Amino acid sequence: MFSDKDISHFASLETPFYHYDLALLQKTLATCATAAKLYNFHVHYAMKANFNQRVLDCIEAIGFGADCVSVGEVNRAIEVGFDKGKVVFAGVGKSDKEINGALDQDIFCFNVESIQELEVIDELAGAKGKKASVAIRINPNVDAHTHHNITTGLDENKFGINSWDLPACAETLRKCANLEFLGIHFHIGSQITNLDVYKNLCVRVNEFATWFEERGFSVKVLNVGGGLGIDYHNPDQQIPDFDAYFKIFNEFLNVRPNQEVHFELGRALVGQCSSLISKVLYVKNGKKKNFIILDAGMTELMRPALYQAYHKIENLSKSGLPAVKYDVVGPICESTDCFGKEVELPESHRGDLIALRSTGAYGEVMASKYNLRDEIRSAYSEAVS
Ligand code: LLP
Repeated sequence: MFSDKDISHFASLETPFYHYDLALLQKTLATCATAAKLYNFHVHYAMKANFNQRVLDCIEAIGFGADCVSVGEVNRAIEVGFDKGKVVFAGVGKSDKEINGALDQDIFCFNVESIQELEVIDELAGAKGKKASVAIRINPNVDAHTHHNITTGLDENKFGINSWDLPACAETLRKCANLEFLGIHFHIGSQITNLDVYKNLCVRVNEFATWFEERGFSVKVLNVGGGLGIDYHNPDQQIPDFDAYFKIFNEFLNVRPNQEVHFELGRALVGQCSSLISKVLYVKNGKKKNFIILDAGMTELMRPALYQAYHKIENLSKSGLPAVKYDVVGPICESTDCFGKEVELPESHRGDLIALRSTGAYGEVMASKYNLRDEIRSAYSEAVS
């Protein structure tokens, strides 16, 4: 929900731009931190969701760790001030250069996704005279009941080590003198809204923790990943139910006294704090369809083209006029450059401000230079200091 003051401010800025409500971000972070603290859970922010400098500053200030998927993210997190001892590094294809870079930074943990990767980290750590802390990312074959493009924890997915390879993995861990086994890691998918899925995950985590313990490994870290979804249809209902989410893990995970539970949340923390603000360039009223052509396209917000993702579309300049159905599209020379079909909006005109809501996660970070478009801009409503 935007105030009249916001809207007149937006009208004075060059579009398109990502608007960030930093006060809402702070409130979301504080709610999550309080909910996690109740159970002594550790939260790492999944930096891939958004690495806008101002967003990272707010998250670093709350004291979360960082979950990174490239050495670029590892270095950026540390530059911004995230504690090295709270940085985890995941990814199915870490290059030698990236592994070396992360070893130099003395991060908390590598989340390792294959037996070969374990051997490479062992060798590279040995060459530096270091010990690398590792968690084994296990593919638990748990269905996340989300869009198939963002499911990661099924046998058919490329992520993690499959359960049938665990005996070989345990053997490798025993052989590798430069590795310290910290625990086990999971991430089953993103935009998960059916919390029962996490109960199934907990059951599997318990089984795998026991499996390792029975073989003499001490499992200090249970990292259950992220994936908590947001309500794209109600962007004004802004703060995810972190209490309900953490409560499930508290109830269904068997946590031993020496164990820590870690999370890697991205979307739930940043998804609702941003909207992509755009202007209507043209309105085309056809025989079969009416089109609104925006000055933002898939180059600024890729999710609808890539996953048929829904983002609520609002005309900020009009209210109370009769609803017209429009296909809301961008200016890019691609038919998939479409934000919504048959969207009911007040009758719209050139120059109207349009908000695409809930774009804080995987919005700005996935923008591209396709068509040699301008760099995407950002604007901020200030945080409360
Ligand atoms: N941990 C790992 C290992 C991950 O791969 C991811 C996201 C996360 C944590 C954070 O997940 P979240 O809490 O944000 O759901 N671009 C897609 C989403 C890709 C998610 C990739 N992995 C989208 O726009 O929906």
